[in-house]
Amino acid sequence: MNKLITFEGIEGSGKSTQINLIARYLTERNVPLLITREPSGTDIGSKIGDILFNRENYHMCAETEAFLFCAARAQHVREKIIPALNSNKVVLCDRFSDATYAYQGAARGLGSEFIKLINDYSSLGIKPALTLLFDLPVEAGLQRATDRDNLLKDASTTDRFEKESMEFHNKVRNGYLDILKNEPARFRLIDADRDIDAIHQDALRYVLDFIDLCD
Ligand code: TMP
Repeated sequence: MNKLITFEGIEGSGKSTQINLIARYLTERNVPLLITREPSGTDIGSKIGDILFNRENYHMCAETEAFLFCAARAQHVREKIIPALNSNKVVLCDRFSDATYAYQGAARGLGSEFIKLINDYSSLGIKPALTLLFDLPVEAGLQRATDRDNLLKDASTTDRFEKESMEFHNKVRNGYLDILKNEPARFRLIDADRDIDAIHQDALRYVLDFIDLCD
């Protein structure tokens, strides 16, 4: 049974906080688990991420960007995700193929046909069984991301994606909402413009309902 659960959303949607909370809950209950992320879920993926996020690469074309995310995914799926699914683990993944549809397909304008082709090759056709989409207005998300960057590091190191315009991030948000419209059964839409605990309660309920169905 495919137990791949993905966490998606715009910058500052809080999905990484939420994946950690769910992982802690499941680990305490001894649920066999892999927690991972894209593009940096493998050592090779981390190196690819260094190229993708480096602000000096501002002139990277959209196609290169899409292929690099897919290169990281190809490695990740073969090295980590498939072995974990084959051992019947629940896999919690912070971003996966839907991010390529939303960011490179919708926001960069490469279109869903091209993205489907390269996504299918890189993921060997593996699709998430459940996707939690953390949704909130772009202004609120970017403000959270900026606050986090100010806490964590020098704001001048904000990455290539966070630096993009409001219009770009709105296209990402709408891109995600379009995929959800096309595949409502796989998605759970979560209002992420609330406090961490309220969001966590929703996310946990959806994950536990899914895991119950698998047993
Ligand atoms: P984050 O998950 O920490 O927000 O960082 C990942 C960044 O990479 C984020 O800006 C979205 C971007 N991204 C894409 O543009 N396409 C992809 O396929 C993936 C996995 C991520």
